[in-house]
Amino acid sequence: MKPTLSRRGFMGLTGAMALGGAAAAGLHSSRALAVPQTAPGLLYGPAPGVAKLNANENPYGPSQSAIAAMAKASAMGAYYIGDALTRLRSMIGERFDIPTSQVSFSSGSSGVLTYLALAKAREGAILGPDLFWDTTTRAALRQGGELVRIAPTSDLGLDLDALYRAITPDISMVQICNPNNPTGMVLDPVKLREFCIKASKKCTVLVDEAYNEITDDPAANSMVPLILQGHDVVVARTFSKLYGLAGMRVGYMLASEENTAKVARFSLGDYALNQAGVAAAVASFDDTAFLSFSKERILEARELITSTAQTNGLSVAPSQTSFVYVNLGSLNAESFRAEMARQNVLIRGIYQDYTGWSRVSCGRLEDVQQYAAAMPRALEALNA
Ligand SMILES: Cc1ncc(COP(=O)(O)O)c(C=O)c1O
Repeated sequence: MKPTLSRRGFMGLTGAMALGGAAAAGLHSSRALAVPQTAPGLLYGPAPGVAKLNANENPYGPSQSAIAAMAKASAMGAYYIGDALTRLRSMIGERFDIPTSQVSFSSGSSGVLTYLALAKAREGAILGPDLFWDTTTRAALRQGGELVRIAPTSDLGLDLDALYRAITPDISMVQICNPNNPTGMVLDPVKLREFCIKASKKCTVLVDEAYNEITDDPAANSMVPLILQGHDVVVARTFSKLYGLAGMRVGYMLASEENTAKVARFSLGDYALNQAGVAAAVASFDDTAFLSFSKERILEARELITSTAQTNGLSVAPSQTSFVYVNLGSLNAESFRAEMARQNVLIRGIYQDYTGWSRVSCGRLEDVQQYAAAMPRALEALNA
């Protein structure tokens, strides 16, 4: 079976988008998880002078509390992980008021997302938007699974009615990333809740909430309560974004007992986690001072990116995340990426066929200032 790409309504998109070519040209897409080398020989983090704004990390992490916990845990690294994971599981269970037997862990949420995709692809096709963080569904495609996509609205949003209509008996799971990556846009929580309740009568609904904590109203935007109400809804969360632990690789999934068992069929379970990462997650989970500090800095960076784009005559998609999707108009996002890289600013290139859109992460303020300074020069080079 091959992935199906519906282009319904595609030509109604802004004139900035041209069809075709990106994937064939081997350009950057949301497929790539790998973080590019930033300096030969440098093992950790970006090289001095390099503004790394391409993978939505929180550069203020890990928190001091996490660093202290990791040092302590690493000193005991001879032992397999034990009580720390039990502690993390209880903390998550308590926070979301969900039985701990309904919490699955993996090394980053990529793991649990992949395991669920592998399980559900055996039951039928996976349905999702044309543009979302589809890296983990691709694991299921490599095993012969099918991904059906629906076209976005003219403003790059997700038409939940169209998504609902696309749920045929062949669909085993709908996957939504909320807020979405790479657009950064969040769905109306009331409409999403209605959709989840309706759609989950027909198939499993997976909501990837990797950036939930960065939204204006995390509680309202979360679909976790639906799991407890018995709807066939699954939610994935991660410590990689606001918690500042992308390199420590801790993610989790909240689901019914039945869906948790499906994930477990493909998972290494608790053995997939490492002592230091879990220690860092435990220390960060309630570190409100660090989390608020990080969120404030991220929003500041987002403001600066938005105003920079506007000053340069560009527009942006409304973001509720730690990145911004910038509309370059008729310019090519891959060429823009290359021009920015020449100035030591690392951003993303083209996703799918959206050739005029460029994603940039809300990194350290000084790095975003470097982005702001580099943008006019890159635009000038492309317009020359
Ligand atoms: C929407 C979304 N979900 C999940 C992930 C996976 O992150 P991790 O495996 O680090 O938890 C990412 C990473 O960028 C993401 O953007």
